[in-house]
Amino acid sequence: MQDLDGVAEAFRTARGFGSSALYSHLLAVVADDPGLLELAARTRAGQQPTFALFGAVHHLLLGGTTDPLAEYYPSVVGDRARAVDGETGPAFARFCAAYAAEIAALLATRLVQTNQVQRALVTRLGLALLRRAHPGPVCVVEVGCSAGLNLRADRYAFTVGGTTIGAPTAPVRIPVDVPDAHLLPALDGVPRIVDAVGVDLDPPDLTDAADRAWLRALVWPENAHQAALLRAAMAAVAADPPRVLRGNVIDIGADVAASLPPGVPRLVVHTATRIHVPVEQRPAFDAAIAGFAAGGPMLHLALEDDQRTAPSGRPGVGLTATDSTGSRTIAVADGHLAWLEPLPAMSELGLVRR
Ligand SMILES: C[S@@+](CC[C@H](N)C(=O)[O-])C[C@H]1O[C@@H](n2cnc3c(N)ncnc32)[C@H](O)[C@@H]1O
Repeated sequence: MQDLDGVAEAFRTARGFGSSALYSHLLAVVADDPGLLELAARTRAGQQPTFALFGAVHHLLLGGTTDPLAEYYPSVVGDRARAVDGETGPAFARFCAAYAAEIAALLATRLVQTNQVQRALVTRLGLALLRRAHPGPVCVVEVGCSAGLNLRADRYAFTVGGTTIGAPTAPVRIPVDVPDAHLLPALDGVPRIVDAVGVDLDPPDLTDAADRAWLRALVWPENAHQAALLRAAMAAVAADPPRVLRGNVIDIGADVAASLPPGVPRLVVHTATRIHVPVEQRPAFDAAIAGFAAGGPMLHLALEDDQRTAPSGRPGVGLTATDSTGSRTIAVADGHLAWLEPLPAMSELGLVRR
């Protein structure tokens, strides 16, 4: 059971829900309702209760639970979804009271594992940046990879700044709004990847319908495009899955690092992962990430909860790049990577050989 004050604070101060009018509205509804806060507090330690509660309710509705609340979910009723109104909050509260046991069971057993496919651009960028200093083979590690969908970034097509890169037959085609795309490294022609490995507390099994349904429920109700990308990526990755290891990176990071080919440059990525690590464990998490540099030159990219303002003025999160020369913010992006604004530091980044 999470601390109630902390849960209330999470709902009161949550940012980044702009692409869901429904969830933006419900944040305040939950924050002001002690019963809903108590239910949300059943979320597992360290996990963000906002995503978890909304995901659990969405999962039940997508699974066929019939309730008037569904009328507000485009993912369930399509174009005839009702706009948020004065009845939305009460409908949500009634639903949570009626299905409290089912919601609590999901919160107790599931993690926030949103595998947001547009975030694969972070890995693709990392491959391009690493190649600037190391033209040879590389390996890729994603910490908190969920189902491992973004470990296949080298196989996806991306449209950035009006240009599409990647194979015309790529099964997953990802648009990201990127102004000043000239600051990006050349994204085509990825280096040879000798090992791509993911680490996750509890990797969802893409051959399991219940796990796929949970991943789908974590996509917000209005975001049909993200749901379509998820579906395409799940099918592609299930057919040829990358190496994904179960465990906490704090416990198994050193072994994973030791399993990488010695001396081969490594890209280490985590997106929306550290934010779900309990605060007191974050120093150990950071140490585990730094440990990947022991076996070879490392470029570490992180897209977490670093609130920043993009050059255009919109609020986003910082994309941080760390190598042996230090850390710098190289872009500001939407948390779901619907857009990314590169900063001049991106074009200046060059990895120094260790
Ligand atoms: C919100 S998901 C993000 C998934 C993916 N990085 C993306 O952006 O699509 C966070 C993932 O991190 C995993 N995770 C959280 N803490 C972790 C830890 N200490 N070690 C390994 N995985 C962790 C969770 O199980 C979850 O699948």
